[in-house]
Amino acid sequence: MRLKGKIAFITGGGGAMGGAQARLFAQEGAAVCVADIFPDKGRKVASEIKSSGGRAVAVALDVEKSDQWAAAVAACEKELGPVSILCNNAGANFRVSFDEQTEEMWNRIIGIGLTGSFLGVKAVIPSMRRAGGGVIINMGSLASVRPGGGSPGYAAMKMGLVGLTRSAAQSYAKDNIRCMLVSPGHVDTPFIRSNNPYSPNDWSTSIDNPDNYNKRVANTPAGRLVMPDDIAKAFLFVASDEAAMLTGSNVIVDGGAAI
Ligand SMILES: NC(=O)c1ccc[n+]([C@@H]2O[C@H](COP(=O)([O-])OP(=O)(O)OC[C@H]3O[C@@H](n4cnc5c(N)ncnc54)[C@H](O)[C@@H]3O)[C@@H](O)[C@H]2O)c1
Repeated sequence: MRLKGKIAFITGGGGAMGGAQARLFAQEGAAVCVADIFPDKGRKVASEIKSSGGRAVAVALDVEKSDQWAAAVAACEKELGPVSILCNNAGANFRVSFDEQTEEMWNRIIGIGLTGSFLGVKAVIPSMRRAGGGVIINMGSLASVRPGGGSPGYAAMKMGLVGLTRSAAQSYAKDNIRCMLVSPGHVDTPFIRSNNPYSPNDWSTSIDNPDNYNKRVANTPAGRLVMPDDIAKAFLFVASDEAAMLTGSNVIVDGGAAI
């Protein structure tokens, strides 16, 4: 019961890592608002939590839209109470080279991953003040540690979250609000396996292709891909009072991939 009495708002909550956070947080006593652009995915996670005796609601949210943020946080607060934890999971990538990345791809990656997280911070701060404090956790990546070639929008978005995290941490420490980045390595999720509108994959990029899967395992000293539950446990620690002195920093959960 490490999150007893907390209210967690989780974007991309219908996805693999967001869903794992929602289930684990609920097991640890939090009430959870599962927010996703695909409402059916969010509703599925919320109903699983409720069937296991937890408290959860699902809301539709496109993180790029500030009016939707306002409505979703208001709905969460009305149903569950003021938000004390925000997990900004929603992200996007278009895995093409600098030459091939269009302005539209760049804008979608930055819009969902970086602007979406900024809007999330703005939307929950008044609610967190009413809660007497809180924790915001942004979703980083290996690209928050060592962005290389490949998708320039993704490198800029994930490095941008380092700055956003520090800015929010410094700005809201006086309100008893912490802000952290958690940076996963290669996680076995639909983001790198399936063909999603926000993260397209084909045989050349998907981890369904054994070459791509094995390359990621070989790049991970721990010898396996990270699983969504590994990341959820790190989010749980960062969200809990045990992490009271963690703010503005980056927790890397990658099996050593960034070494
Ligand atoms: N899988 C990896 O290897 C890996 C590694 C590091 C970081 N990440 C980050 O994790 C996040 C993706 O999570 P996942 O890997 O569990 O993938 P996922 O595809 O299972 O989950 C992503 C969820 O975000 C939702 N979403 C997409 N656009 C949205 C929007 N505009 N508004 C609200 N929700 C939206 C999707 O519907 C989906 O449910 C991204 O931020 C990605 O950069 C992934």
